Amino acid sequence: MPIIVFASSKGGAGKTTAAIILASELARHNTNVTLIDADPNQHSAKWAQKDGCPMNIKLIEKSTEETIIDDIDSAQEKTAFVLVDLEGTASMAVASAISRADLVITLCQGSQDDADEAAKTIKLVNRQAKVLNRLIPFAVLMTRTNPAITPRTLKHIMKEFRDAGIDIFEASLIDREAFRAIRSFGGTVNDLDPKQVSGIDKAIANAHALAIEVIERIKGIKRKRDQNHD
Ligand SMILES: Nc1ncnc2c1ncn2[C@@H]1O[C@H](COP(=O)(O)OP(=O)(O)OP(=O)(O)O)[C@@H](O)[C@H]1O
Ligand SMILES: [Mg+2]
Repeated sequence: MPIIVFASSKGGAGKTTAAIILASELARHNTNVTLIDADPNQHSAKWAQKDGCPMNIKLIEKSTEETIIDDIDSAQEKTAFVLVDLEGTASMAVASAISRADLVITLCQGSQDDADEAAKTIKLVNRQAKVLNRLIPFAVLMTRTNPAITPRTLKHIMKEFRDAGIDIFEASLIDREAFRAIRSFGGTVNDLDPKQVSGIDKAIANAHALAIEVIERIKGIKRKRDQNHD
């Protein structure tokens, strides 16, 4: 079953938020998901242990460089999706998780530093692909974007990625209070109280668009793999 790895060598890029949003959206559609937290800071584990975490999200906490491959392999046998949240650095655990990935999602906010770090992560993915002599699909997910405008810097960064042949998600994760709020209150964006948090509907639609695109990408990756085996 698909293994999706959230990686970026930059701390605070948005890995945990994206992993939680995707896990929640898949779970909402009755899909069993394993969420592996391999970041020593255990941010996604903290969210998953709060009230309101969907029942069909199974958490594997405290995954380390010694356990991560076994954690991924056993999760893959048990649930329809495996999502791996990593620490914001290049480590043995990060390289191991990438080596098992069906799709690596690299997070990037609209700054040059983020873009440079995303490029580093992509180089690591390519190195792992060479070591294993297999394709490791990856794509950049722009995050904390502005719903109203696309600033020039962001346009420039996206053009640089495209010129380098780097795949970018059509969907981006908008900077929304609802995505911050679930980290504090627990649960999913669908459970938030509209009296307390604004823009919930838009956050729900954004989470849905992300999940649909991830599923389509996974289908495309599988199709290509099957064609290559024919
Ligand atoms: N789309 C978003 N809208 C609003 N806030 C966001 C969004 N994405 C991330 N954030 C906020 O930005 C901060 C960093 O995000 P997050 O924890 O997801 O990054 P990370 O890559 O997992 O960081 P680390 O490397 O430290 O684990 C958090 O406070 C989070 O709430
Ligand atoms: Mg994190």
